[in-house]
Amino acid sequence: MSSHSQPRRPQGAARPVTVPWFAAARQRETRLTMTTAYDWLWAGLFDEAGVDSILVGDSLGMVVQGHRSTLPVTLDQIIYHAEMVCRGVQRALVVVDLPFLSFQVSPQEAVANAGRILKETGASAVKLEGGVTQARTIQALSDADIPVMAHVGMRPQSVHALGGMGRIQRDQRRLLEDARAAEQAGAFAIVLELIPRSAAAAVTAELQIPTIGIGAGPDCTGQVLVGPDLLGLTDGFHPRFLKRYGDLRNQAISATKEYIREVLDGTFPDEAHSHE
Ligand code: KIV
Repeated sequence: MSSHSQPRRPQGAARPVTVPWFAAARQRETRLTMTTAYDWLWAGLFDEAGVDSILVGDSLGMVVQGHRSTLPVTLDQIIYHAEMVCRGVQRALVVVDLPFLSFQVSPQEAVANAGRILKETGASAVKLEGGVTQARTIQALSDADIPVMAHVGMRPQSVHALGGMGRIQRDQRRLLEDARAAEQAGAFAIVLELIPRSAAAAVTAELQIPTIGIGAGPDCTGQVLVGPDLLGLTDGFHPRFLKRYGDLRNQAISATKEYIREVLDGTFPDEAHSHE
């Protein structure tokens, strides 16, 4: 078996994160960490680093597929990626986005589509965008024992209705209503995207379930960043909230340039990289 075929793990790896453990973060008074990943390789890496949860986000559409929004991502595509992610993960809770129009049509369709995600990928939970307007669907999913993470504030699937991506959502009354509705309908956690710090603090104080912020300041229970953004693999995206913890894009380009140079000048492969 090639050394590439299995993730390398220490013996006695930590127990898998469950939905109840994740949902009880407020009671334990611990913070939560989450990143997105879209395949086996990167999911294994984030899991080995110790994130609590990996989101197979529909940011897939922009980060992997090169679209300008998340809208083109299909249910079959996200299932394909989530299945790879689940194979790379031993501990983290895998949550999968319900893509645009896979849950908005009716609660029944949402249950069928979310059920497919859990059955075909091995993930533990789904995420959907919306609060008040999706309360019936969150309830239907919860009634079917499909754990749901809600997502309020800036909702990328509503890019046209909101008049663009990346706009800070400042209506605190609406944010509170959305968050309360999601919690009451059975959501086990809620993503708060691009809202003022004060609004995120107010929502977090109001709820029992964990809040996971992205561009929502430090008062949330946990934080999520798009994996390739936090590693510095993506380019041309510089929102104030994003901190890049690596510079992998430049490292990858310079490593590849060095490889090209060595092949062209005959330095690679040398004796050490050749067989007798
Ligand atoms: O799709 C995604 O990556 C997300 C995160 C930004 C929360 O929804």
